[in-house]
Amino acid sequence: MDKIIIEGGRKLHGEIKISGAKNGALPIIAATLLCPGTHTIHNVPELRDIRTILQLLATLGATWERIDTNTLKINSDNVTEFEASYDLVKTMRASVLVLGPLLARLGRARVSLPGGCAIGARPIDFHMQGFQKLGAQLELEHGYVDAKVCGRLRGATIYFDIPSVTGTENILMAAVLAEGTTVIKNAAREPEIANLIDMLTRMGARIEGRGSDRLTVQGVESLQPAEIEIIPDRIETGTFLIAVGAAGGDVTLTNCNPSHLPSLFEKLRSSGLYLEEGETSIRVIRSGPLKNVDIKTMPYPGFATDLQAQTMALMTLTEGLSVIHENIFENRFMHVAELRRMGADIMVDGGKAIVKGHGKLNGARVMATDLRASASLVIAGLAAQGLTEISRVYHLDRGYDDLVGKLSAVGAKIWRERE
Ligand code: EPU
Repeated sequence: MDKIIIEGGRKLHGEIKISGAKNGALPIIAATLLCPGTHTIHNVPELRDIRTILQLLATLGATWERIDTNTLKINSDNVTEFEASYDLVKTMRASVLVLGPLLARLGRARVSLPGGCAIGARPIDFHMQGFQKLGAQLELEHGYVDAKVCGRLRGATIYFDIPSVTGTENILMAAVLAEGTTVIKNAAREPEIANLIDMLTRMGARIEGRGSDRLTVQGVESLQPAEIEIIPDRIETGTFLIAVGAAGGDVTLTNCNPSHLPSLFEKLRSSGLYLEEGETSIRVIRSGPLKNVDIKTMPYPGFATDLQAQTMALMTLTEGLSVIHENIFENRFMHVAELRRMGADIMVDGGKAIVKGHGKLNGARVMATDLRASASLVIAGLAAQGLTEISRVYHLDRGYDDLVGKLSAVGAKIWRERE
């Protein structure tokens, strides 16, 4: 297993190219299961989670090849298997995204229940209730959801109590081949869902309401393979903006979509960063002291929970008090204990963290607990005095494409070593 070592205190200067979105690529790769043929996907990031879902697709009968570093061709002619095993699902919860496509195409899907994870209980009850409304029969046995439908699924109206991202994606993928009309109310509005809708539409699906919280799907009898480009990763983009905020410097991010980060931009500008938005680039400069801001995580277009940990690291570097409300996941403060090891003063009270900034952090040995928590420790390490050593960095490899290489290229002193 690798660890990351950072010698803090270097300002960042230069250009970083943003990769395709992990959470955009995963549902789109799952959607290729919906019909036979060869699909082409561009701008796919090089990540462990992508390798995991491709491994899962292979167990279902699909084949794939990378025709260049970021372009994938997936052939789904021989998809006949319908089981996603515990071994794969336990390493990546997003494996549940194969439920909708398999049920729609084969009339059967057997997927291991993901269980809890480092950021909360994360049930999939909304997905299951949605499939039931579409006419599937679901049974829970031996830790697996076994879903079956005789003939085609039937369109229905589905309301989500909370706008679930993968829930919306799973139901969408099931509904496109259902008989009749499906309406998803209180649907999630994340840009990755619009990316999936574009893929499904190119495959022949009929979906209205893209970008809104009400999606209407007119089911079709068949679909055809399609070609799509994955949108830029807005969480990777936000992570680098915050990293420059913490370390200082002047960096331009390219190949990104600034319109996907409205709430983060507001907060970063309020905390003293200069941001210059282009069509597909963002320049970020931090030259002066940081100001404290409060954040509340919300479904898109609110402040992303996937940027909460990174922003908390930034707030430890101000000279004021910052209140951070985590409203999406009940246990997403695992990074707090590690940031405290670096000298941060943070108090947690239920879903609220109160950060008392002291203007600095000290390097220390810390442990990554989940993907975004790991990113927050890297950000803290870039700003800290002395050496920071982060273990269990396999979490980072799940969702950041060459984070160490990209930060090194803009002047950070960061490297990997075998533990
Ligand atoms: N929820 C339920 N029941 C469900 C589904 C969700 O109670 O059936 C609750 C969750 O427990 C949570 C809330 O609804 O409190 C929202 O969860 P959501 O379903 O939207 O999360 P997700 O689809 O499992 C995706 C991302 C996460 C990201 C969240 C929130 C993918 C593959 N994952 O998860 O990404 O944090 O949306 O934006 O798209 C990450 O990339 O690090 C990551 C964790």
